[in-house]
Amino acid sequence: MNIQLINASAPRDAADARMIWLYEGGELFSPAEKLDESTQSLLREMLETQQFTGKEAQIQYVNIADAAKSKKLLFVGLGEKSRFTTGKVRKIVAKSVKELKKYRVKSAEIAFIGIENAAQITPMVSVCVQTAMLADYAFEKFLSKSDKFHLESLHIICDDAHAAAFQAAVTEGVLLGEATNFARDLVNEPANVLVPVTLAEKSVQAGKEAGFDVQVYDEQQIQALGMKAFYEVAKAALNPPRLIVMKYMGKPDKADEIIGFVGKGLTYDSGGLSLKSNEHMIDMKNDMAGAAAVIAAMQAIARAKLPVNVVAVVAACENMLAVHGYRPGDIIGSMGGKSILIKSTDAEGRLTLADAVYYTVHNEKACKVVDIATLTGAASKAFGTLLTAAMGNDAAFYAELEQAAGVSGEKICHVPLMEEYKELIKSDIADLSNSAGPNSPGMIMGGLFIGEFIPDTPWIHLDIAGTAWADKKSDHSPAGGTGVGVRTLYYLAKLLANA
Ligand code: BES
Ligand code: ZN
Ligand code: ZN
Repeated sequence: MNIQLINASAPRDAADARMIWLYEGGELFSPAEKLDESTQSLLREMLETQQFTGKEAQIQYVNIADAAKSKKLLFVGLGEKSRFTTGKVRKIVAKSVKELKKYRVKSAEIAFIGIENAAQITPMVSVCVQTAMLADYAFEKFLSKSDKFHLESLHIICDDAHAAAFQAAVTEGVLLGEATNFARDLVNEPANVLVPVTLAEKSVQAGKEAGFDVQVYDEQQIQALGMKAFYEVAKAALNPPRLIVMKYMGKPDKADEIIGFVGKGLTYDSGGLSLKSNEHMIDMKNDMAGAAAVIAAMQAIARAKLPVNVVAVVAACENMLAVHGYRPGDIIGSMGGKSILIKSTDAEGRLTLADAVYYTVHNEKACKVVDIATLTGAASKAFGTLLTAAMGNDAAFYAELEQAAGVSGEKICHVPLMEEYKELIKSDIADLSNSAGPNSPGMIMGGLFIGEFIPDTPWIHLDIAGTAWADKKSDHSPAGGTGVGVRTLYYLAKLLANA
């Protein structure tokens, strides 16, 4: 999608459709917006007959020419003025884009002009851009013929006085829209195409384009590093594992302040010998959605040139089954030195993450770490597709993440890591076991297990098992990878950059 900011005073080509935002009762969102006589009387009539009231997310499409020569108008209700927020822009723009596509509109414009409180409006511009790009996304690579219609261009009209601030918002919006869609692409790639080596290659390519360093370690190097738990998970597969380490140093004068992002990178999770059923296996290409989120977040952070240092780590592998694979009952080692009794080979994510977080702290010297992982079916059961479970060991760091999530609009819910439950992953014959069994609080057990490997560093664990994947399409995205996490990680880095 081509997105452009245009000064209201400059001449411009008319877009196919013009979006007109109205508060409940008919007040224009952009007071300086010009409506010609016929449009005004049409609007008056719609308001009088209550065909259109301006209530939240109400949309009225009209097929007429107006003064600006657009052939189509889209009246969009914003609800009550006093209750209009940036969050509502997401809902409204997603629905508008869906509507525009329905009527096969190729180009649209929206005005942000004559508005007094420009500072409050600027974030809305960014969100408007992001949402339009996300709502237009489709994964069409494997279709020999696609009949999907796309909104090709979006023009944002602004006052000359706000052009600089709005341009920054548009640029950031485009960057985040692209990064989130990049993460979706990575997740939507089937596991026969996207194997650990391909994921590493895509990271290297992203690093080259966006400007961050990428080191890739192969199976020998992974073993030499002592990543025993990670390697145990990986070793059954024919496609070899890769450790992907991405580094962006945007604050070189404070090189010891490093944020660590760790993404679960199972390019496929069959369950291993603790084999999943077909029903549970079918979407398991999405078990690398955490990896996709950190790779795409790195892309956005580097492209935005945020003054912050970030290292992102992905322990990429497949969880397959083979005669030489690990088994329930095995006791394995880990990079941190703890021994682990394998109770289920399907609780593999925490094993790869245990080594990955340990590596991120000890080898890459990260001083705050977020891991993001499609870790437990329990998170999905508890919170569904819209709410990510968030756990951690440091209240101040958690507050920062919460603030970042508030800006991104991605919903998180705090889950306490009850110390008392640690009993449940203790074992008589190993330091830890990787599962506490069916009647335990699975989401918390996953968090507690990873936490054992990062005891002394502020850390947050995001369980995105429910939020990384959409079974059904919505206004915001088609079915498939959602790109969850990218924007929250970006805004967290931005917040820490300015701290
Ligand atoms: N990748 C799965 C979790 C998952 C489930 C992600 C549904 C996305 C959607 C993970 O590796 C897994 O299998 N977890 C087990 C853990 C259990 C064996 C302790 C689970 O949640 O059942
Ligand atoms: Zn699993
Ligand atoms: Zn998994």
